[in-house]
Amino acid sequence: MKILVLGAGGFIGCHLTHRLLQERHAVTAVDLDMDKVADSLNYPNLSFLQQDIRSAEWDLDKRVRDADLVIDLIAYANPGLYLIMPLEVFRLNFTENLKIAEACVRHGKRLIQFSTCEVYGRTASSLKNARLADPEDPIHATFSEDTSEFILGPVSKHRWIYSCAKQLLERVLHAYGLEMGFNYTIIRPFNFIGPKIDFLLHEREGIPRVFSFFMDALLHGTQMKLVDGGTNRRCYTYIEDAIECTNRIVENPGGVCDRQILNIGSPQNEISICRMAELMREIYAEKFRDPAVRLPEIVSVTGEEFYGKGYDDSNRRIPDITKVRTLLHWEPRTGIRELLETTMRYYVSEYRRSGAPRVPATA
Ligand code: NAD
Ligand code: UGA
Repeated sequence: MKILVLGAGGFIGCHLTHRLLQERHAVTAVDLDMDKVADSLNYPNLSFLQQDIRSAEWDLDKRVRDADLVIDLIAYANPGLYLIMPLEVFRLNFTENLKIAEACVRHGKRLIQFSTCEVYGRTASSLKNARLADPEDPIHATFSEDTSEFILGPVSKHRWIYSCAKQLLERVLHAYGLEMGFNYTIIRPFNFIGPKIDFLLHEREGIPRVFSFFMDALLHGTQMKLVDGGTNRRCYTYIEDAIECTNRIVENPGGVCDRQILNIGSPQNEISICRMAELMREIYAEKFRDPAVRLPEIVSVTGEEFYGKGYDDSNRRIPDITKVRTLLHWEPRTGIRELLETTMRYYVSEYRRSGAPRVPATA
């Protein structure tokens, strides 16, 4: 197949592009950045375009017309950005993505759109007046694609603009499917993790996702910060498992993914952020520790101190993966300890290879 991958230089995009090249598809990959795809550039079936899709010279229609399938991963996807530039998050994650979807509608091309598990928002048990017999029952935090309600915070908590922009895009794709027979598949990833997820803090300024904050603290012996005590929970999914599932969605045997919304996640890997900090510190001490660098202390900070005004959080989210199990016979294989250890091994070896200075234990 001729596949156009937009956002191919990002975390999921680089792993997916690599897999599609191995599957012998002809891939046109587009991104602002090419660092993460550097190890795929010598594939003869790859054409990489370093390109801002908002620029005037970007010929969206031509690229979509030339493809059999379009996969759109472009977004601002780090919560820190939702707080600093909510309007840009809306413009890129809704307006620009809508242009891509509408080009697919115009040219009759199938689209795989990466959305997010953040559309589900918070759990019913987290509501002030919730009166649930057993609020800890995972049933209250398990989200299904076609039946779960979405619970978002108020407008003043602008973290939710990301969730809302993605939700609106999903609704528009659904409407194009209903009214014009548009063929799309929406993927809702649940916290994928793995090598190349984000930059480390010493490499560049910005606000990456939690793994990178913790990894950076371990390498430098600085504090691991738990936002609001780290009580919120996530289900982490290893990137290779996620790519295996995505590849089956690309193959789409018998059209089973046509006009479907699909969760991809590992329900068995639920962990609180506090426990994740402890587990990463344990793994680091056991497997990777540089004795010259002290182990970090784990401290608590408020969401406002860490991210600024407007922060709110998903308290708990567990994917119901019945659909991908049934339609695609996919099963996540990698447990939480293994996925953290493998990802940490990658970052430790990259860090040591780069010759980055060690921070002495007394610093
Ligand atoms: P990422 O930030 O690593 O990748 C996004 C890519 O889009 C980046 O490489 C960036 O350079 C590119 N991009 C941004 N603006 C662009 C522009 N104007 N022109 C060209 N390229 C541009 O994010 P990711 O983690 O790989 O996520 C990919 C998609 O999956 C996103 O849509 C995200 O919302 C969604 N998602 C990811 C996760 C996850 O677990 N990583 C979870 C939920 C949803
Ligand atoms: C992210 C992003 O919204 C999207 O990439 C995506 O939709 C989603 O993950 C996903 O991967 O499924 P979130 O899980 O909140 O959302 O992202 P992180 O920044 O990794 O935060 C996870 C948790 O760790 C949050 O509770 C956050 O407050 C906390 N955190 C973060 C800390 O306790 N300490 C830190 O140093 C950083």
